[in-house]
Amino acid sequence: MASLIDGKQISQDIKDELREKVRKYKESGKEIALAVIQVGNDPASSVYVNNKKKACEYIGIKSVAFELPEETQQDELLKLIDELNADQGIQGILVQLPLPKHMNENLIINRINPLKDVDGFHPGNVGALCIGQPGFVSCTPAGIIELLKRSGNEVVGKECVVVGRSNIVGKPMALLLLAENATVTIAHSKTRDLKEVCKRADILIAAVGKPKMFNRDYIKEGAVVIDVGIHRMENGKLCGDVDFEDVLDKCSAITPVPGGVGPMTIAMLMNNCVESLKLQRME
Ligand code: GUN
Repeated sequence: MASLIDGKQISQDIKDELREKVRKYKESGKEIALAVIQVGNDPASSVYVNNKKKACEYIGIKSVAFELPEETQQDELLKLIDELNADQGIQGILVQLPLPKHMNENLIINRINPLKDVDGFHPGNVGALCIGQPGFVSCTPAGIIELLKRSGNEVVGKECVVVGRSNIVGKPMALLLLAENATVTIAHSKTRDLKEVCKRADILIAAVGKPKMFNRDYIKEGAVVIDVGIHRMENGKLCGDVDFEDVLDKCSAITPVPGGVGPMTIAMLMNNCVESLKLQRME
């Protein structure tokens, strides 16, 4: 039977460590503030944004919320980002995605000062990750590395297969695993013999966005399985990209959904906010 990788507990440990760091920073007069921008009122985004604000409060980071109406013009958002970039009292800027259709997401992300881009989405930060320079790393893949390390699952030399090639998860995930000296394969919807490719994995990262797609036929005996997906089923329960019950007795460790990868994203966002002081040489 697989052991469960407890993202809820690990994220709580990280948040407690960060809370202590922030307390010490405050003692030496250093405050951290995160600007959170939401355009429109997509219900899922509102839930995420609220959770981010709560995490800031817990850790002792000031969150400054900007709730802009759906019909906000792109130029207005760019102007707000320019102001926040110039504001010495703001360390992190987060624009919640997706943005309304009349906005160009790349243009918006590229406008954020990379030194304040706590999501790690700016091309400058993605490039820094690619060549091993300091910068912000996308929160979900950074959280997965922490899950593996803190659950004692060694990465060095392992065959890792990342299924999914999104800019937010798949690509940075592959770069991070490579930086940890894993042997990395990126698979995707056009990959031939996907099952066979996945069966090579000592560590399988499922990030495709399809409920329960990965059953035991995709899993090598004893593999570590990381499930990035989160889907609401018809019965109201949540499931991941992995068919949890079907693979449970075949893998050695697995992240549950919920309570696996999900809680790590916000913990790592908080970590990036705390790290911003170092990157901005304010520490
Ligand atoms: N929308 C879904 N996930 C994310 C995230 O990690 N950051 C931002 N800014 N928007 C998102």
